[in-house]
Amino acid sequence: MSILLFTFTYVDTKPSQVTWDEYSFKINGERLMLFSGEVHPYRMPVQSLHLDVFQKIKAMGFNAISFYVFWGILEPKRGEISFEGFRDLQPFFDAAMKAGIYLVARPGPYINAETAGGGFPGWGTYTPGLWRTSNTTYLDAYAGYIEAVGSKIAANQITKGGPVILVQSENEYSGFQPPYTEDFDYEAKLMQSLRDAGITVPITTNDAWPGAHYTSVDVYGYDSYPNGFDCSHPYTWLTDAVPEWLWGGHEDANPDDLNAVYEFQGGAFDGWGGSGYDTCAILTGPEFERVFYKNQFAMSTTYLNLYMIFGGTNWGGIAHPGVYTSYDYGSAIAEDRTLREKYYELKLQANFLAVSPAYLTTRPMNIYSTQGSFTGNSALKTTQVLDVVGNKTGFYVVRQTDASTNALQTYTLQLPTSLGTLTIPTIGGLLSLNGKDSKIHVVDYTAGSTELVYSTGEIFTWATIDGRDVIVLYGNAGELHETAFKFSGQAPVARVLSGTGTIKQQTLSGGALAIQYTTSGQTVFQVRNTLVYIFVDRTTAYEFWVLHPPSNGAFAQFNTKNPIIIKGGYLLRSVSTSESTLAITGDLNSTASFEIIAPKASSQKVTFNGGTLTLGRTSYGTLTAKRTVNLPSVTIPNLSTLNWKTADSLPEISRTYSDAKWTVANHTSSINPVVPLTSAVLYAGDYGYHTGNILWRGHFAATGAETGFTVDVLGGSAFGYSVWLDSTFIGSWEGDAVHGEFTGTFNFPAVLAKGSAHVLTILQDHMGYEEDWTAGSDAFKTPRGIINYSFVGSNSTTVSTWKVTGNLGGESYVDKTRGPLNEGGLFGERQGWHLPGFNDAAWATGKPTTGISKAGVSFFRTTFNLNIPKGVDYPLALVVTNSTTNPHFRSQLYVNGYQFGKYINHIGPQKSFPVPQGILNYNGVNTLAVSLWAAGAAGAKLDSLALQLTAKVESTLPAVVNQPSPAWTTRPGAY
Ligand code: GAL
Repeated sequence: MSILLFTFTYVDTKPSQVTWDEYSFKINGERLMLFSGEVHPYRMPVQSLHLDVFQKIKAMGFNAISFYVFWGILEPKRGEISFEGFRDLQPFFDAAMKAGIYLVARPGPYINAETAGGGFPGWGTYTPGLWRTSNTTYLDAYAGYIEAVGSKIAANQITKGGPVILVQSENEYSGFQPPYTEDFDYEAKLMQSLRDAGITVPITTNDAWPGAHYTSVDVYGYDSYPNGFDCSHPYTWLTDAVPEWLWGGHEDANPDDLNAVYEFQGGAFDGWGGSGYDTCAILTGPEFERVFYKNQFAMSTTYLNLYMIFGGTNWGGIAHPGVYTSYDYGSAIAEDRTLREKYYELKLQANFLAVSPAYLTTRPMNIYSTQGSFTGNSALKTTQVLDVVGNKTGFYVVRQTDASTNALQTYTLQLPTSLGTLTIPTIGGLLSLNGKDSKIHVVDYTAGSTELVYSTGEIFTWATIDGRDVIVLYGNAGELHETAFKFSGQAPVARVLSGTGTIKQQTLSGGALAIQYTTSGQTVFQVRNTLVYIFVDRTTAYEFWVLHPPSNGAFAQFNTKNPIIIKGGYLLRSVSTSESTLAITGDLNSTASFEIIAPKASSQKVTFNGGTLTLGRTSYGTLTAKRTVNLPSVTIPNLSTLNWKTADSLPEISRTYSDAKWTVANHTSSINPVVPLTSAVLYAGDYGYHTGNILWRGHFAATGAETGFTVDVLGGSAFGYSVWLDSTFIGSWEGDAVHGEFTGTFNFPAVLAKGSAHVLTILQDHMGYEEDWTAGSDAFKTPRGIINYSFVGSNSTTVSTWKVTGNLGGESYVDKTRGPLNEGGLFGERQGWHLPGFNDAAWATGKPTTGISKAGVSFFRTTFNLNIPKGVDYPLALVVTNSTTNPHFRSQLYVNGYQFGKYINHIGPQKSFPVPQGILNYNGVNTLAVSLWAAGAAGAKLDSLALQLTAKVESTLPAVVNQPSPAWTTRPGAY
């Protein structure tokens, strides 16, 4: 008998749609700057809002979005993978196609991301074998997930008509716990798993720094967070913060590939007790963007992904202990989807690179000798970035030598140009650079038929429209700039067409006209066939948008041809042309004065959000129009005057309560690297409870000698716990921002009669599993639960039975729509009190602002209507105020069953909890539920709770479909 062996070898057919070389990626053979922003689908559960966010990213001039996939929510029970509800990734892929933006998929399996367990599922904490290594128990553990998610991603690759162009393997596989080192076998196997799932596009990885780890991927790259995460000192930059050295790292690690930065700081996370995201937005504000991103461009970075561009929300149990509910991140797009100034600065940079093909084949020529170069001023650094393929264009990136300084420097530039070496400004005077600023000056730059010999004014964009070149330049208020235009034949004369600025002009030998301008107001001048816009300050430049009408076919929205330049509006989302009509869509927060630079033939008529604009025309042929804003007033319910109902949510301490249905905590061993000190293992995870509040009950018979109870509980930073002996509260560890573990001793109120039966009830918070940044550390397995305990005064007291509960069903969680991390183990959560439709008619009347008068847990419920018209984007937030009387309490805020806030009054800092439309029903009834856990004997209350608008924008945001929010039904077996 013979056995036929078939061996399948993977044929590495690299798709022609995505290729690359040492300079840049190419899509369908065309080089492009991939300017990308990070967005996490799981942090925005309203799937119909992905398109809104994507359109905003695209309107900034970006062309890619990078995203993580969170394994832990897709496979909360081993072998049971679900893409139900918000977990379905297809709407995310579809939104990218609709917006015309490429996707870079990062399915992990490890993702870090300030996400519980760094993305690993809870059951991983009791799965033996080292994770993030080639240990087979780990390889087996992720196999099903990678297959399932990999095939979803594969089906949406560009090769299949989808938006996915790259797939990342692992995440920062860079730090290793000795004796473990980089595990090449794991790296190869994980890549093979991705390939086996159907991934054909290039595989990438992000080293935490250019340290040459995991270079076997197709396109290696690295991450960088040069301003760090201390948002409490948002103006403090290190003098040498700007990482010029990254180029050397890249050249050592993968000189044959482009300089790809898979994560660059786009904001910062903030932890419990932190200073709040507005400070993070300052730390990483427009100044940071100018200096640090331009330094990346000085290093010819042609893939740049900003982490995060839209952070979203750590709703439910998404967060790891290092962050709170908001994951706003101080990003360009805030958590409520409004735009920060950072957004507009990015728009300037992204649009410039999008029209500068010469940049795509550049090399930095003088790295490490930039100080004083080209300026003679050693307080400045200038990197020369030359197009070494086109051999013509140069980019000169100027910044301060001392990154921390606020001092202004003046300078001249001595630059090699096609007209020889010039000292610029050629007409006299000095250029200047503010502290914490950086500029890109160009040399021999082509803009249509116009050749700029140089420009110190920065280029926002250029386009050739109706045969005329339009160039948009900008600089800071009051700055002197010069731009020189090449000509042949007779010297042209520049003419100011509009605006308040004056220009000086001078012919340069060799055939160029230099124009000098101190920017003041919007000024337009013409040099032969070139129309030049200059702006006084960034704020004016911020108003400009470049949009492209869709072309044809499946990738119509990815079109980068036929630009239309429009000034005005808070956000412009799209343009389309049909016959002679130009249709613009966008969002306004105030009256807009548009100036439209579009082909005449297709802009005879112009509409904005469907309404026809009354057009004027400037002397130089562009269109103008005014559009008033339409911001209808709405009534937001006053939560304090609603009817609230309340019920006790800690019946577990009543004498008659039965814990018969709880899980018996009777394991005698654990694979956990934290070796148990108790005879019964008291790690909630070992019993399948991985999120939210955890309750323990310990039954014991008294010896009569015990006077108290000492217990060491582990819950993660900012956690707390409360302890009851029978029905008597004996104390709490209220928690602080620092401790993830705490040993507390709690005295018994009286001597216990010898032989009497008692029960200790411990309610603890679970702040999410730790990350696992260091491979081989298995840090994510750090347990949540009781590490040790003893009875004061009595060594011989033993707990006969320990019981534990977390969320109802544990890994077999009940709510498949809202997912495995939405609800925890409070009685009210197990019963589904947070859900709409629960019948609270029998409950007492009571408000969270009245609270409870003793230690314990209560639930509060109310409903309210919203009636917010279409055509606007009015984001709402639940806002609390800090309570100083009896400050030690924790509250969870549930909106239509989705947990959208975890408030710890005495730790903070978050007080405003944005809740997106789609979780809130903007046209109908909403259910609001609040849990209140008072950790002190005097009880606690919320000082105030309000629903507030955080912005008012007239909007063409795509129709928001309410996320399914299934109502309460009987929960079989709930206890
Ligand atoms: C990176 C990591 C990301 C995220 C980021 C900080 O090191 O790759 O997942 O954790 O740091 O926000």
